Amino acid sequence: MANGDAVLNQTMQAIEEKAVDTSKKLKVGIIGTGWIAEAHLLQYLKFPDVELVAMADLIPGKAERFCRRFGVDPAGIRFYPDHKSMLENEQLDAVSICTYNATHAACAIDALNAGVNVLLEKPFTVTLEEAVEVMRAEKKSGRILTIGFQPRMDKNMQQIKKIVESGALGEIYYIQTGGGRRRGIPNSTFIEKKTAGIGALGDIGCYSLDMVLNAIGYPKPLTVTGYTSDFFGTNPLYSRPDQNHTAEENAARFSVDDFAAAFIRLEGGIILDFRISWAMHLDTPGDTVILGKKAALRIPSTECWNGTVGGEMTLYTDVAGVQTETKIPILETGKELFELKVRSFLDAIKEGKPAPVPSSQILYNQAIIDGIAQSARLGREIEIRIPEI
Ligand SMILES: NC(=O)c1ccc[n+]([C@@H]2O[C@H](COP(=O)([O-])OP(=O)(O)OC[C@H]3O[C@@H](n4cnc5c(N)ncnc54)[C@H](O)[C@@H]3O)[C@@H](O)[C@H]2O)c1
Repeated sequence: MANGDAVLNQTMQAIEEKAVDTSKKLKVGIIGTGWIAEAHLLQYLKFPDVELVAMADLIPGKAERFCRRFGVDPAGIRFYPDHKSMLENEQLDAVSICTYNATHAACAIDALNAGVNVLLEKPFTVTLEEAVEVMRAEKKSGRILTIGFQPRMDKNMQQIKKIVESGALGEIYYIQTGGGRRRGIPNSTFIEKKTAGIGALGDIGCYSLDMVLNAIGYPKPLTVTGYTSDFFGTNPLYSRPDQNHTAEENAARFSVDDFAAAFIRLEGGIILDFRISWAMHLDTPGDTVILGKKAALRIPSTECWNGTVGGEMTLYTDVAGVQTETKIPILETGKELFELKVRSFLDAIKEGKPAPVPSSQILYNQAIIDGIAQSARLGREIEIRIPEI
């Protein structure tokens, strides 16, 4: 686990310090040319050691339109109607998988089996079983699989981990995390089970979980009591219309969660109290707090999608018997988080380094998400069992 962090630190330094080595160009493809593919494309276009050669999308003509929108000459790209045909016909070094959650696993498994390095958008998968299958393919292939958590590149997020690792908090025993929105259901392919698989729980919940679990070294989750609800998404009063649907249609399509909460026991006796929301009658479900025996850290809540903290953090300690609060100033990362995310993936391929955001960590993130969904369905606490990879 420390491996991934060391790689990330080295990569961020390297990006700041040295020019890109263009002696070997990487052949890159993009699977899924929807909303988030734009952020990947714009990075690949910046890098002189990337040759963007192929794109796939299930919707006919969508990838071609996507290219034109960003000034990419479609004549220079080979287009495919799905990920399988692209992988069968191309010799790629790397792919960005920018599909909706329900096809993450299939695309990642097929890409790894074809010997291609994978940058997979978050959340890892929909279920724990899928994540395990992807990791088995990763192990067999010997290729890099990194999961698209760009907040990892943010200096404030890194500062949380540094504070924990400095020992300033002492032994950690309780964490409250989460965040979300009063109103902010994303519509599109995010609200149907057949495309998204999971709602707010996976979409933005994975970020809150990663923020704290990464800081404390990703201890194994043991048990979970989870709750999910869909009161806002399924109610036309609160759902919004979009380009293709009325508010009523979106409410009828809504088949995932819009709110989730959970109580999770982690190895080492740490309690994780989690809540996340796309919509509710409240501005925030609370800040993230990390309680240690020596001190505590408060991280202001965010809407959980832009990759940074919601404001100055506060460290609560006793100094010579006096209860003291120290503000941690906001740090500037200085580069776009997406640039750092994509560049760290490419550098790992070129320099034979481990994945910047390794599946071995995010497996536990996915196990918690899956555990919450299962526990909510069963209406009781469940034990988290992670199969051998
Ligand atoms: N990292 C971030 O900040 C961030 C932000 C938004 C979304 N995301 C993630 O990115 C993913 C995509 O989100 P989006 O908003 O771009 O979704 P989208 O629905 O706009 O686009 C997904 C595209 O993938 C295509 N697709 C699905 N399966 C395919 C397959 N097998 N082969 C080829 N094409 C396929 C669909 O046709 C669609 O055009 C989601 O998992 C989401 O969680 C990440």
